Amino acid sequence: MSLADQKAHLSPVWARYNDIIVDRGEGVMLYGDDGRAYYDFTCGIGVTNTGHCHPRVVAAIREQAGLLLHGQANIVYHKPMLRLVEGLRQVVPSGIDAFFFSNSGAEAVEGALKLARHATGRTDVIVFDGGFHGRTAGTMALTTSKGKYRSGYAPLPSGVHVAPYAYCFNCAIAKAAGRNTAEMSAGAPADSGCCGDPLRRVEHILHANTTPDDVAAILVEPVLGEGGYVMPPASFIRGLRAICDKYGIMLIADEVQTGFGRTGKFFAMEHYGVTADIIVAAKGLASGLPLSAVMTRQEIMQKWHAGTHGGTYGGNALACAAAVATLDVIIEERLVENAAAMGAVLKGELSELQQNNPLIGDVRGAGLMIGVELIDEAGAPNAALAKRTIAACREMGLLVITCGTYDNVVRFIPPLVVNDDQIHTAVGIFRQALV
Ligand SMILES: Cc1ncc(COP(=O)(O)O)c(C=O)c1O
Repeated sequence: MSLADQKAHLSPVWARYNDIIVDRGEGVMLYGDDGRAYYDFTCGIGVTNTGHCHPRVVAAIREQAGLLLHGQANIVYHKPMLRLVEGLRQVVPSGIDAFFFSNSGAEAVEGALKLARHATGRTDVIVFDGGFHGRTAGTMALTTSKGKYRSGYAPLPSGVHVAPYAYCFNCAIAKAAGRNTAEMSAGAPADSGCCGDPLRRVEHILHANTTPDDVAAILVEPVLGEGGYVMPPASFIRGLRAICDKYGIMLIADEVQTGFGRTGKFFAMEHYGVTADIIVAAKGLASGLPLSAVMTRQEIMQKWHAGTHGGTYGGNALACAAAVATLDVIIEERLVENAAAMGAVLKGELSELQQNNPLIGDVRGAGLMIGVELIDEAGAPNAALAKRTIAACREMGLLVITCGTYDNVVRFIPPLVVNDDQIHTAVGIFRQALV
């Protein structure tokens, strides 16, 4: 069977950006069986934060594979999971000291919501327009970044209320007031530019669509990922914290994409000085092995009674060993600091491009999670330009992908080991491709 025949037997449900078959990855680079090298500014959608095949992560996986592949969490403890608990305690916000592990981001989001329900005795959840939390039956109901993720899959679980996210570039009130959306969405602690409307909508939902006594959780991405790489003003996230405190609602931060240094802080909530009650992490946690975490305070975790949640593979030994090594690499190689420094270079170079190109509507984000929103002459989302641009980038050896409800935001998420030469090369390719 030829490779082409083999490909034809894979499900078409994977929406594919590229036809490349990769043989190998190293650092920022992917190597195709076509003999070509690609700058990977997709990072497997924000997963390979330590770079492809970091030698220390690979060595930890090899060593663990020779000792124990699977130590099922209901049956035994294993050391990689216990070491991971110790490692995570050094990087999570103070007060967060209890952990549950599963395999994927969606699984952990569902777990977090189940925990919030048991801990509060309430049922409902407020999520945000443009949010992406996964594709399982439960998380589909929480995901509103694209209609196609839920189309044809009804009925979805009920009790989910969707509020607007603070998407300053698209905010009609900000536009009417002529506010500088770039400054408002910079996430600067001093920001005061938000019109406050999204928070008023949350309060309204709490009184019109449900009641505070019915709402277990407000689930939010600290930076909207799949929905368009939108960094909200700090006042938005702080306001959500205040609403949760007022009504005894759990604030759940979905840090699946933003965690582990991606935004130039270990967790993106640090940009706003806010600690969530429950943090969900995955992607960057284990450098590519399937692992996710629900992290909270003991007093909350203790309300999740034995046997009411679980899974066969969650927190498996190999993935936990990879995660322990990943944490060591992130800390010892100062990758969070590198993400902040290289992110400033990346955002700076892309913002320079914006000066001379009216089709770049917005350059935003933090650290190495930067989105470039492309528009047409009338200011409408320009998906055709985004599609053409990422295809031309690929031809020139740069892998980037899009996001946003209208697929018009090109996202830059390189591994956190990226250096300024690589960023300069990538932006140079993007500039040539953007025609
Ligand atoms: C913020 C966020 N939450 C949840 C998920 C779902 O994670 P997974 O694909 O591992 O189920 C994703 C995946 O992209 C994500 O970006």
